[in-house]
Amino acid sequence: MNDVEKPDLKSGVSSLSLPEDGKLLGVVDGEDVVVVRRGTDFFAVSAHCTHYGGPLAEGLLIEDTVRCPWHHACFDLRTGEALRAPALDPISCWKVEKHGDKIFVREKLKPSAPKKVVNAPSSVVIAGGGAAGLAAADMLRREGYEGPLTIISADDAPPVDRPNLSKDYLAGTAQEDWVPLRSSDFYRDRKIELLLSSRISSLDTKRKIVVLENGKQIQFDALLLATGAEPIHLPIEGATDSQVQYLRTFADSKAIIARAVSAKRVVVVGASFIGLEVAASLRARGITIDVVAPENQPLEKIMGPEIGRFIRKLHEDHGVTFHLGQTVKRMDGRKVILSGGQRLEADFLVLGVGVRPTIALAEQAGLAGDRGIAVNEYLETSAPGIFAAGDIARWPDPHSGERIRVEHWVVAERQGQVAARNILGRREKFDAVPFFWSQHYDVAINYVGHAEKWDRIEIDGDLNARDCAATFKRDGRTLAVVTISRDLQSLQAEADMEALQATQNQKIA
Ligand SMILES: Cc1cc2nc3c(=O)[nH]c(=O)nc-3n(C[C@H](O)[C@H](O)[C@H](O)COP(=O)(O)OP(=O)(O)OC[C@H]3O[C@@H](n4cnc5c(N)ncnc54)[C@H](O)[C@@H]3O)c2cc1C
Ligand code: FES
Repeated sequence: MNDVEKPDLKSGVSSLSLPEDGKLLGVVDGEDVVVVRRGTDFFAVSAHCTHYGGPLAEGLLIEDTVRCPWHHACFDLRTGEALRAPALDPISCWKVEKHGDKIFVREKLKPSAPKKVVNAPSSVVIAGGGAAGLAAADMLRREGYEGPLTIISADDAPPVDRPNLSKDYLAGTAQEDWVPLRSSDFYRDRKIELLLSSRISSLDTKRKIVVLENGKQIQFDALLLATGAEPIHLPIEGATDSQVQYLRTFADSKAIIARAVSAKRVVVVGASFIGLEVAASLRARGITIDVVAPENQPLEKIMGPEIGRFIRKLHEDHGVTFHLGQTVKRMDGRKVILSGGQRLEADFLVLGVGVRPTIALAEQAGLAGDRGIAVNEYLETSAPGIFAAGDIARWPDPHSGERIRVEHWVVAERQGQVAARNILGRREKFDAVPFFWSQHYDVAINYVGHAEKWDRIEIDGDLNARDCAATFKRDGRTLAVVTISRDLQSLQAEADMEALQATQNQKIA
C-alpha cells in the first residue's frame, strides 16, 4: 500500500471500518501507524518492528500485544515495550481519541518511565558479549537496575547481529555499521562497562570472583554465564591455515569477505544452516560453490527428507553443486580430494560442521553440566545466584517435556532477558516456545517448537510453490512447525503451543 492509499489518521477514520480485533494501517505526520482494535479498546503503534522493520500490521494480536510476523518479536500495545526479543527497542505509541464513530490519532505518547528495583544485587557481571549477554544487560537497565554492570567478552568486537554474518553482511547487501547490535553511546549512556578482548579463565563461585586471562580479578554479586558456542574444528590433511575458514565472529565474516574478493571457487564443508547460508551468500558474490557433506540430504535430521530435498533443489537452482554422502579426505594445493576420490578446485574452504558449547569455565568452576550447563526453569545453575543463558544452557523445556539445549538467536536473547529479571529476584520461568529462522536466497524458513525425533510430518500446502507449513508430530502431538511464506501460521503455531502449555499448567495447579 503506498502513502496515497493509507488513510491520514490525524484527520480521523471511521471506527466501524475496524472489526473487533482488527488492524488498520495509516499514517500520522508521515509515519506509518497501525491502529488496533481489541474489544472496545483502540491502540495506535508504529507499523514497523524495531528489529528489521517487519510489518506489524500483518502480525498476530494476543491479548494487548502484537507479534511481528518475521521473527516473532512481541510488543506491548499499551506501552510499546519490546516484551520479547529479537526486538530490543520499543515501538512508538500514539493516543487514540474517539469522537462519535470516528477515531483520531494525533499525539505521540512519551515512553514509559524506567521501573524501580528493590533488592537488586550490588553488582552484575555478564560473561559473554553475544545474544544472551547483550539482551540481559539491556533488560537489567530497562528493568531499572542501576548498579555496576559489566559485560566481559573474549571477542574483540562489541555484541553483533550474529545471524547477519552469514546472510546479508556476507552477501554484501548489509553495511558494516548494521552489524553491531548497539552503538558505543548505548553502553556509555546506560553505564554498561564493556570489556572486549577479555577472556575469563576461571570462576570462583564461593568468593564470587572471575579471573581474566590477563590476571585481573573482577568481583560480582550476581553472574550470568553466556559464553555461547564455538565452531567444531576439523583437521584437514594438507590444508594450510589460510585455506580453512570458520564462521562465528564478525572477524571471521570479514576474513571470508576479504578472501572472497579474489576467489572464484569455494568448497563449503557441511550442509548445516550456516554452511548453506554461506553458500547462498557467496553465490550472491558470483563465486562457484561446492558443498560437501556426509548426509543424504541437507538439513534432513532437523527438517526431514522432503524439506531437505527442497532446500537442496533451491540451492542447485542457484548454481550450488552438492557432493553428499562424502567428506573431505585431504587437500593438495588448490585441489580438494573427497572420500569418494573426486577432486574439486577451491581457493579456500568454509567449514560449517557444527558448534560445541563453550563450557570450560563452568566445568572448571564445578557447575553441574548436562551436555552444556544444566539450569533449572529459572535459568539458574547449580550455584545459587549464577545463571546461564543461550547456546550453553540446557533447560527443562515445558513444551517438549525434555531438557533441551538449542542454538537459536531468539532463544538466547529471550533467555538473557529472563535471566536478567531473575537476577533481580523475579523468579520468572523460561517457558518460551523455541523459535529460529534461516534465510536461503529469497526463501525464509521459520521453525517453532523443538522436534529431535518424530513419527510423522504433515505438509499443508505446496513446498515447491514455497507456500507451506510442515507439522512434526510424535504420538499425535505437535512438536514443531516449519513454515515457508506462512508467517501468520508460524505465529499462530507458537501461540497454540503456549496456550496448550498454559492449559496443562492450570490442570496441574
Ligand atoms: C553465522 C551465524 C549465523 C546464525 N544465524 C542464525 C539464524 O539465522 N537464526 C538463529 O536462530 N540462530 C542463528 N545463529 C545462532 C545464534 O547466533 C546463536 O544461537 C546465538 O548467538 C547464541 O547466543 P549466545 O549469547 O549464547 O552466544 P554468542 O552469541 O556466541 O556469544 C558468546 C559470547 O561469549 C564470549 N565468550 C566465550 N567464552 C568466553 C570467556 N571465557 N570469557 C569471556 N567471554 C567469552 C564470546 O566471545 C561471545 O562474545 C547463527 C550463528 C552464526 C555463527
Ligand atoms: S523484523 Fe520483527 S522480529 Fe525481526
